[in-house]
Amino acid sequence: MPNHKTVQDYIRTIVDFPHEGIMFRDVTTLFADPRGLRLAVDQMLHPYAGTRIDKVIGLEARGFILGGAIAHQLSVGFVPIRKKSKLPGATISEAYTLEYGEAVVEIHDDAIQAGEKILLVDDLLATGGTAEAGIKLVERLGGEIVGCAFVIDLPDLGGRARLEKMGMDVHALCA
Ligand code: PRP
Ligand code: ADE
Repeated sequence: MPNHKTVQDYIRTIVDFPHEGIMFRDVTTLFADPRGLRLAVDQMLHPYAGTRIDKVIGLEARGFILGGAIAHQLSVGFVPIRKKSKLPGATISEAYTLEYGEAVVEIHDDAIQAGEKILLVDDLLATGGTAEAGIKLVERLGGEIVGCAFVIDLPDLGGRARLEKMGMDVHALCA
């Protein structure tokens, strides 16, 4: 029997996680399925066929899984943006607010060379606070973001509009 499942079909929603009122989109079920993971990586890369990409940046934590797979597919390097105090070398930081809290993200200050073309990757776009902080870090190091790729966009939370206002090319596979 042919498998017609879409990326969305592999994602489950957990109610009231991590707080009451949050409908948490759980992509572990997508990642756990060999066809699901391949489908997500291929579809996230599709808009960038023919685009120069020098490095993939992944946002902690689920952006590491997708970003690593995408970088491998492109045969380019992968750079993590991590939550505060996790990276061992010299870093630059950005603070931001998200759907359920506040945080600081960091990147190694030598992780990107000026002029490099960067694809920013994460599993989910909600308020856009995390991605905006990531974009600022990349741009402070002189990188040029060629696109922001997500599996899920929650448009009611305004992230896409926020990133597009910054001039970003935003792609997501499902809402
Ligand atoms: C989630 C998600 C994105 C971010 C999106 O990560 O993976 O990184 O929230 O929200 P925003 O668009 O409102 O900023 P989370 O902050 O839960 O961190 P984790 O992946 O380390 O658990
Ligand atoms: N990050 C912010 N909002 C989220 C949600 N609803 N599901 C998963 N991750 C999130």
